[in-house]
Amino acid sequence: MTTATAPAPSVTAPTVTVRKVGGRLGAVISGVRLGGDLAPETVAEIRSALLAHKVVFFRGQDHLDEEAHEAFGRLLGTPVAHPTVPSTDGRYSFPIDSDHGARANQWHTDVTFVPAYPAFSILRAVVVPPYGGNTLWANTATAYENLPEPLRNLADALRAVHSNAYDYAALRPDAVPERLARFRDVFASTKFLTEHPVVRVHPETGERTLLLGNFVQRISGLTGADSRALVQLLQSHVERPENTVRWQWEAGDVAIWDNRATQHYGVDDSDDHDRKLRRVTIDGDVPVGVDGRASELLEPSSVPEPSFGVASGASTEQPAA
Ligand SMILES: [Fe+2]
Repeated sequence: MTTATAPAPSVTAPTVTVRKVGGRLGAVISGVRLGGDLAPETVAEIRSALLAHKVVFFRGQDHLDEEAHEAFGRLLGTPVAHPTVPSTDGRYSFPIDSDHGARANQWHTDVTFVPAYPAFSILRAVVVPPYGGNTLWANTATAYENLPEPLRNLADALRAVHSNAYDYAALRPDAVPERLARFRDVFASTKFLTEHPVVRVHPETGERTLLLGNFVQRISGLTGADSRALVQLLQSHVERPENTVRWQWEAGDVAIWDNRATQHYGVDDSDDHDRKLRRVTIDGDVPVGVDGRASELLEPSSVPEPSFGVASGASTEQPAA
């Protein structure tokens, strides 16, 4: 790599380019053919762009199949299985299909109902609808940073209980009840309750991030009404349009996000058109609040072994003080 004399933020390596697509988060990476055989320096470029921009997008990765998707994932860490939804084909790659009962049209961070929820999610578009079906991401570090100081101080002191058992029908009143019941029976087959700090210190960047989203059941120690009002107040700063980026999928696209510094939302506006994506999640660590206190699994006593592979959130050991 040659040393540039003038700042050229878009060029990070001879062939790899990183171009921002949103003011707060999001960048397109070009010049990379994803797979398990990438050079370590290319993986390092991708990882550093991912930490800086929170979500990175790649076009034209049609060559990827389940195996290559997973092999690429291993370059970022250890792939983990969903804690409750079994793998149907012996792969870590998890199907996200429009014909499933529940759609991801709520702001959330993946799998926050377990302590060590995934660090990264790698989503690959296989079939995209002719219109709609975009995904939005929000930056939870800038959401925190831009809070007025009194709210930052308040958030720093809070903890919240996250669960995978919630009222699915209330969130999806338009869904086919049988499909929704089937999805709920699998998704919440084991009920998890985890208490997380509302402000997490990011283990790699040191940034403070808001840890909320739709798995939040309540703020610890508050009544239902106070809890709802406070969650809504903080969450509204995450969801502000200026704090988000929106991606229009093409088949063969790959998005990778830092699940510790983002929330996302799958827009449900493609009517009955097919939308099929596959997601590989990479193991994370147990969050720690600004006071050094770690997240705690309240229920069950440990994360059960899934029918296939290593469970997301399996590493529930408390970090060293
Ligand atoms: Fe998700």
